[in-house]
Formats: sequence, structure tokens, C-alpha cells
Amino acid sequence: MSDDITRVIGATPDPTPPGPVLPVPAAAHDDITTVVTPVAAEPLRRNRAGGSPAPDGVPPVAVQPAPQDVFSSPAPLATLEARGITAWFGDHQVLDRVSLTMPAGQVTALIGPSGCGKSTFLRILNRMHELVPSASLAGEVLLDGDDIYDPARRLTDARKDIGMVFQKPNPFPAMSIYDNVVAGLKLTGVRASRDEKDYLVERSLTSAGLWKEVKDRLRAPGGGLSGGQQQRLCIARSLAIKPKVLLMDEPCSALDPTSTRVIEETMGELQHEVTIVIVTHNMQQAQRVSQQCAFFLASQGQPGHIVEHGDTEAMFDSPIDPRTYDYVNGRFG
Ligand SMILES: Nc1ncnc2c1ncn2[C@@H]1O[C@H](COP(=O)(O)OP(=O)(O)OP(=O)(O)O)[C@@H](O)[C@H]1O
Ligand SMILES: [Mg+2]
Repeated sequence: MSDDITRVIGATPDPTPPGPVLPVPAAAHDDITTVVTPVAAEPLRRNRAGGSPAPDGVPPVAVQPAPQDVFSSPAPLATLEARGITAWFGDHQVLDRVSLTMPAGQVTALIGPSGCGKSTFLRILNRMHELVPSASLAGEVLLDGDDIYDPARRLTDARKDIGMVFQKPNPFPAMSIYDNVVAGLKLTGVRASRDEKDYLVERSLTSAGLWKEVKDRLRAPGGGLSGGQQQRLCIARSLAIKPKVLLMDEPCSALDPTSTRVIEETMGELQHEVTIVIVTHNMQQAQRVSQQCAFFLASQGQPGHIVEHGDTEAMFDSPIDPRTYDYVNGRFG
């Protein structure tokens, strides 16, 4: 660990339930599913954190009637900025001072060999890292300048503003397509009328590129869709709570080429309404979908760091670091 980094300590268990990690039902993501049960998790506390945790039994977000524009207008585009992110699992340091700006309205691709910390970094961006009991971190994550780890901010706000889509599509299988889309509303404390829900379901499914395929069977179970459709359903579910940022961890790696193409097209449409950060091992995909790119690397037992980042075209056509050149040209990793 570097001397100039103030280590964050996982200290007092927080009585506040960690809030909605709604897109993660069982079998969603191996290393996450073990930690999403709200009461079982022990959220990490930053050493500068204080705040006043909610007393036991208090829901994480007060339920209030939502004004109509909550449903009709898109959230304003936002820039996400990571500053000096260092992360540990126990004593194992897995990221070293990672700083990256993910600009509003653009797609940023995170690339790099297996184990270099891409998923860990992504989970830090929406406060899921802290759900692992041994996890700790240092650094800051700013959403339009506001620190998402600010103790005055609710965990649920970060998760509402910054949605996540995982590698394996993880709809609630027995729940209807309709109910899958609106599942996040309750968890984030938004009450909606039937008309508002109808509007939201159509809008979210349209944005996710799935509406036409499912509009006649909204009451059918989500588990009955194809893998690619399920992934778009998960995207719709994330969009329904109007995030400012959508994080996607290898969202196409379990999909066939046709479904992959549809998701990529969907991302192209979505970036006008939400800032996107995608982890991918597919170099062609990174080139196709992203405008910004960051190359992560963890050399020989060292924590992961960013070797190079910037404009995607430049990263692939004229990388500055020879390791980037080798990686994007498939010479290692
Ligand atoms: N829950 C966990 N507990 C302990 N160590 C973990 C946990 N999750 C990840 N790690 C470790 O953190 C390091 C970074 O893992 P991470 O999953 O972030 O890498 P990655 O770049 O996403 O890899 P891949 O491309 O294979 O998905 C690895 O050494 C991994 O073993
Ligand atoms: Mg990963």
C-alpha cells in the first residue's frame, strides 16, 4: 500500500440496510449474490465517514408520491469521476490509485486482462464494493461533483443514480415482464399510479430496445424470454428508476452475436439519455460502442491500475504505451 493513501477501515457495522441492489436476484453474479441480502451485509465505512445512520426498521428511502415529471422527463446527463481509487479485499490490494473521468452522455469502455480489477472498479462506482464484508477502499467517486460516498448521502441515492447491469441476465424469473420493469420503484421509494407505471414500462422497454418484442405479452414471466431479451429486460429495469449512469459488466458475454448487436445498438441510443460505463473483453465491441476507453492492468501480483486512457479511436489506432498496443492487438491477456 502506498504511504500517501489513507486506508479506509471497515469498522462499525451500519444498522442501515444497504438498500436496493435490485438487479441482483439469486444466480445473478457469483461474487455478488453472496452479499446482497440486506441484513447480512456489513457496509464499509470510510474513515472520514460519520453521518447519522437510520434507526433499525426505518426504510432506506422515505416513500413519497412522485410528481409526474419523475416519469416523463429523462434525468439530466451526468459525469462520473473516480479520483485516486485504491481498493482492498482484506489485506489484498486489488486497485491502486485509479483516476478516471467518464464524461456525460458518452460510453466509456474498461478493458484489460482478467483479474486486473475492472469489476471491482465498476462496483465501487455504485457502492456495491462495500457489500463485501472484507472490502475497503480509498479515494473519491464524484457524480457531477458530488461525492457518492459522502456520509450525508444515502446509499440508496447512489444506487438509484448509478444503475448496474451484470454479465448474466438476472430478471426475477417468475415475475412478469411488466413487474420486472417496475421492480425498482418500490425499492427506491417511488410510488406510482397504474398509468404512470404503464408509461414507465413502455418507455423503459422502448429505450432498452425490447418493447416491440414483448408489448403483447407483458404479463408473461420474465424468465420465459431469450437470454438477449432477458438482458434487455434487465436494462429496462435499470432504466425505469431513471439512473444518470448505467454500469454494464460484460453485458454481452453470455449472448449470441445477434443479441449482442441489438444490445450494442441499444447502447448507442441510450447514451443520449444516460452516461454508460461498460466492461468488455471484446476489443471490437469496445471500438464499436465507446468514445472513451481505459486500459487496466495488474502486473505480476501487483494491484490493478490504469495504464492508459482517452479517446477510444486513439487508444486503438495510436496507443502511447506499448502494453496498450499489445493488448488491443490481442498479443496478451
Ligand atoms: N469478493 C471478493 N473477495 C476477494 N477477492 C476478490 C473478490 N472479488 C474480486 N476479488 C479479487 O480482486 C481482484 C480483481 O478482481 P475483479 O473481479 O475486479 O477483476 P476483473 O478485471 O473484473 O476480472 P475478469 O475480467 O476476470 O472479470 C482479483 O484478484 C480477484 O481475485
Ligand atoms: Mg470482471
